[in-house]
Order: sequence, then C-alpha cells, then structure tokens
Amino acid sequence: MTSSSKEAIASRLAEARRRTLELIAPLDDAQLNRVYSPILSPLAWDLGHIANFEELWLVQTVGGREPLHGELGRFYDAIENPRRTRGELPILRDAELRSYLDEVRERTLEVLDEVEIGPDAADPLLRDGFVYEMLIAHEQQHNETMLQLLQMVDGYEVPPGMGRLSPGQMPVQLDRHFEYPPVRETPHTGGMVRIDAGSYEIGASAQGFAYDNERPRHAVELEAFEIDRTPVSNAAYIAYMEDTGAEPPMYWELDDDAGWVLTTGGGRGPVDPSHPVLHISWHEADAFARWAGKRLPAEHEWEAAHPRLDGVGIAWEWTSSDFLAYPGFEAFPYREYSEAFVGDTYKVLRGGSWATERNVMRPSFRNWDLPERRQIFAGVRCAKDAPS
Ligand SMILES: [Fe+2]
Repeated sequence: MTSSSKEAIASRLAEARRRTLELIAPLDDAQLNRVYSPILSPLAWDLGHIANFEELWLVQTVGGREPLHGELGRFYDAIENPRRTRGELPILRDAELRSYLDEVRERTLEVLDEVEIGPDAADPLLRDGFVYEMLIAHEQQHNETMLQLLQMVDGYEVPPGMGRLSPGQMPVQLDRHFEYPPVRETPHTGGMVRIDAGSYEIGASAQGFAYDNERPRHAVELEAFEIDRTPVSNAAYIAYMEDTGAEPPMYWELDDDAGWVLTTGGGRGPVDPSHPVLHISWHEADAFARWAGKRLPAEHEWEAAHPRLDGVGIAWEWTSSDFLAYPGFEAFPYREYSEAFVGDTYKVLRGGSWATERNVMRPSFRNWDLPERRQIFAGVRCAKDAPS
C-alpha cells in the first residue's frame, strides 16, 4: 500500500475522532461520568472503550505492543460488562481518559507507519486495510450510541453538520458528505412498491469492507411482495395510537395546547406529522404493521427492495427477521463481533438513521437489537404479500 493510502487512513481516523470529540465538547466531566439510563453506558465508558478497542487492534494485535494500562481492557469489554454495570467500573475518567485517547492514537500512527496493508498483505486483518476500516466504523457506530444518550442530556444540541438533523427535528436536506442512500427530493410520496418473485443476491461481496455477518453473499428465493415506498410517518402512527390506545413513541408527551411534543434534549418541540416515526420498539413496529393490514418486511426483502425505497437513512427499519448467520458464515476477525449475538434473541434492523455516519451505511449492513428497545433511532416500513 502506498504512503498516500496510509495518509488517507490517518486522516479518516482523525476525522472520526474529531467528530467524537465534537459530540462531547459541550459536556463537562461530571456529565461524561453520569449514568443517565441503565440501558446506556456513561459517555466516559464509550470514550475509553473507543480508545481501548483501538489499542487492542491497532496497537497490540497489529503492532505487537504491550497495553498502556495493563489489565484495564477488561473493563471495556462490551460483553463482559453489561451496560447497567458500566458506571461502577474502575474506568479512566477526566484528564486521564483524555490522555489515554491521545496516547493510543499516537501509537496507532507509529504502527500504521510500520505495517504492510496492501491487497497482498499476508495477514487478513491488514489486507486492504481491513482492521483500519473496522476501527473507523467502530468509532462512528459508537457515535450513534452516544447520540442515543446525548438526547437525554438537558439542553444538549447536536453540533451543526452532525447527521442531518437535531434531536426532535427531521432532515431538511441531504448532507453533501452523504452519498448513500439516495434520498429523493420529495420522499413522502407514499404508496407501495411491488417486488417480483425471483432469486435475489443478498449480502456483501468478497471485495471491500463489510462485517462477517454480511457474508457470504448468497442467492435467496423470494415470493412476490409489496413494500411501502416511505417509512411510516408520525401522522400514521398518531392515527394508530388514537384507534388502538397504543403508547406513544419514546420522548413524546401530550401537551394540552400543542398536542404531541418531543422532549429530547430537555426541550419541547412539536411532533411533525409528515416525518417518519422514531423511537418505537420492534413489538410496536410489528403491532403497527398488523393494524395497517400489513406486516414487517423480512430483512432479505428489504435488501432486495432497497434501490426502490425512499426515506432510507432517517430511522433504522425493524424487520421481521431474527439475527441469524448466513449459510457458510465464518466469524472474522473475532467471535464476539456478531456470532455471540446470533439466535432468536435479537431482531435485525436495516438502513440507518439520521445519526448514522454514512460511511457505515450500506445495503447489506445488518444492525440488530432487542425487540423491546426504544432508545435506538428506529422506526418502521411495512410490507405485505403481493396479490397473485
Ligand atoms: Fe464497541
């Protein structure tokens, strides 16, 4: 790999870090250490975990160096330490945390200078810079998790240019950095798209960066189906609530004068009826779809349909699918990335949200979460069997 590609990696690492630090810039150390919710880590844990994951892969594994803080890494292991326990852990905080981020990055760049990361690199971790892509995506994905918590901080405002909207607001235009997906100018056209029965290629090809759970690419037979062109709107969700008495989405409150309002960031703004609904659980998405006389799309249906859909990238879209391994799945580079979650516990979400960095979004990307979760930026798009 040429030095210019290494420079590109270094500058993308720097850009991801700049974004992370910009997100937390308005917060003080007490806010970083505070536990806002048992289902979300304190931000100090996320920050230390971002640095520790970088140290583990880019400094220790790739560079063969010893860790800076001995056994500290075990407190940043996401599987060993459930979110509700993370506020109590002896993790790095305050100035120590900030210098850890900087020291790891310094060592990462030293190692990057030494390694061979071209297409012919013997180590599959280094081939085509896989491990660097993984680290950049990891930090960007944690930014989205951090935004889930930041929405709970009174007075917090998302920095300009971060995502396409502030909490409680909806996107006004496609950010110039974001190329996928193609959000059309008038995304709220409604109606359903018919997808013919046939064989569809699902998953990521062997080339380019993707996670293990997106591979191998394989053919899937689908029956004909129809899928909503646009995500379910707040207006449609309000109609459903009024008809059934269903609970409102997370962060909604009914105001005597203003009707439904959003309370993210400690504020109170009107719920815009035309915007896609956010912060509903899988159970709620499924119940809505049934009420509408439809169903959730299977994840393969979503992937087969994605070039025909509008409004992708505002809210993650719940699917009917459990998070299962594709036929021929091989864990890489470590079992805990996805294999540990495979089974019928987690439901797959597709697309991406306003808080998802566009580098992370691709048609084959599989997000997964527990069906009761509502703090994630998730909504719904319905499907149904096509009339024969
Ligand atoms: Fe992580």
